[in-house]
Amino acid sequence: MEEILPGIYENAGRIYTASADPGSSVYGERTVEEDGIEYREWDPRRSKMAALILKGFREPVIKKNSRILYLGAASGTTVSHLSDIAREGVIFAVEFAPDPFTSLINLAARRKNIIPIMGDARHLERYSPLLSSVGLLYQDVAQRDQSDIFLKNAGLVKGKGILMLKCRSVDVSAHPKKVAETEAAYLRKNGIRIRELIDLSPLEKDHYAVIIDIL
Ligand SMILES: C[S@@+](CC[C@H](N)C(=O)[O-])C[C@H]1O[C@@H](n2cnc3c(N)ncnc32)[C@H](O)[C@@H]1O
Repeated sequence: MEEILPGIYENAGRIYTASADPGSSVYGERTVEEDGIEYREWDPRRSKMAALILKGFREPVIKKNSRILYLGAASGTTVSHLSDIAREGVIFAVEFAPDPFTSLINLAARRKNIIPIMGDARHLERYSPLLSSVGLLYQDVAQRDQSDIFLKNAGLVKGKGILMLKCRSVDVSAHPKKVAETEAAYLRKNGIRIRELIDLSPLEKDHYAVIIDIL
């Protein structure tokens, strides 16, 4: 295993995180043991963050002590890998659908750095009092108003932002690249500093990762 980013390892074209909860699988991912450490394969077809890394993204945005606000946590597939990396940090994981939230609670019960929050990311006033010193805003909500949701939440964070844009959720008939550029222009007009717009296809079709500095 070669460490390519803090807590993220690569071997033969696949990426892994070292499990914070050895012996348990979160979403049926493959595990590999090496030198007494259990590594969980990070599947780019199940997690846009894994796709982003496999597309060559090499910024160390997630570190051992990262404090992350994660919007659209679902049952915790990606959250579980962030939890492996940010061992001394915390992930405030917001999800509004009851079914995945139940699985997220079960995941959080096994790991000490996940705080599950049942809530709508459009109504941050309901969870913002729970947060402190957040340095990364990660959003993956697949909603038509995903840019507005990001704009609302950006004020809670100082550091970086990763917005996983699902272009088809904004406009199902327009070309995904055109949608991503229009959304990026809208975010910029509203004061967001975009550093990069990365096409996640073919791993995650019709998705773009927007990499943002939040000052
Ligand atoms: C594409 S899935 C997220 C997958 C997850 N990020 C992962 O990689 O493991 C989108 C999730 O966002 C949630 N969601 C959508 N709109 C939301 C909102 N306004 N507030 C909170 N969660 C929302 C959905 O219920 C769904 O579980």
